[in-house]
Amino acid sequence: EHPYKICVIGGGSWGTTITKIIAENCLARPRLFRHHVNMWVFEEKINGENLTEIINSRRENVKYLPGVKLPRNIVAVPDLVKTVKDADLIVFNFPHQHLSSILSQLKGHVPPTVRGISCLKGLEVNKDGCKLLSEHISDELGIVCGALSGANLAPEIAREKWSETTIAYNIPQDYRGPGRDIDEVILKATFHRPYFHVNIIDDVAGVSVAGALKNVVALAVGFVDGLGWGDNAKSAIMRVGLLEIIKFSETFFPKSQQSTFTRESAGVADLITTCLGGRNVKVGRYMAETGASAHDAERALLNGQSSQGIVTCKEVHELLTHVGKMEEYPLFAATYQITFGSESIENLPNLLSKNL
Ligand code: 13P
Repeated sequence: EHPYKICVIGGGSWGTTITKIIAENCLARPRLFRHHVNMWVFEEKINGENLTEIINSRRENVKYLPGVKLPRNIVAVPDLVKTVKDADLIVFNFPHQHLSSILSQLKGHVPPTVRGISCLKGLEVNKDGCKLLSEHISDELGIVCGALSGANLAPEIAREKWSETTIAYNIPQDYRGPGRDIDEVILKATFHRPYFHVNIIDDVAGVSVAGALKNVVALAVGFVDGLGWGDNAKSAIMRVGLLEIIKFSETFFPKSQQSTFTRESAGVADLITTCLGGRNVKVGRYMAETGASAHDAERALLNGQSSQGIVTCKEVHELLTHVGKMEEYPLFAATYQITFGSESIENLPNLLSKNL
């Protein structure tokens, strides 16, 4: 059996953090894993220097994860095709609006024996309905792809504070490559750390939908928080949000399991942590406090990072409008309208009670 080569596409705060986790496991298990972990980083200049060169020489992602020392075996690579060369497992971890462009660059460079794990948060909406991002990866690259999501605020995990996560993966039967296929044992060896506890399930749809839609709920929690409505109002938004997330999943992904939302870190726990301390809640709060637009709030607060809730609420709105079900999701509808300026936060209680 050859040692597994793992790479990560994405060098934002979560991408860098997940690469740190993987790199630590590669150092700890030299017979199981190849030493170096390539991390594709979107190249940008920081005070005249390339970000990849800064990461490789100073062992720190000064832009997206400042103050966190990175293991020496991480190699930041600005070229996508070079990043995935000889990889057995590709981890996808970047703002999901870049997925189609990244997949078109990777096409033809990834053999079918490669496996993927998507840490992306969002949906692929097209005229026929919607697809999971992991399905989009599978369809474009011809590889099996699972999903990783959980109550995982990157800055905490980067500082090795304990948390849990959920990996959803279906072990394929078609493997024809060298050695044994990526299975639950390998996945756990790849991602599990003393401070990052992994549970593996098979509900890729449930994990993906939960991870995507909680960002929409977090924007709405930010709205009511920004107006100073207190903890009761925030909890009310989370309650309605959880119900709409489950309903959405049952409607569009009937094979997803309700237990993923109620029992797994990727479900209710991620909803809570994201609504307490994620980037999307900050964006919603800032919009409410200052009257800024969603994109101005994102620019003002996130130092080049992306608020995935803004993109996702648009995707959800597009899909639900297209299939004529928007009024069945009053929180998603109201969050879209407030985010894009056609409704006021003050009206939120009315918008929610209308359809309940
Ligand atoms: P944001 O920081 O993008 O809101 O996401 C938080 C998160 O996904 C926690 O699991």
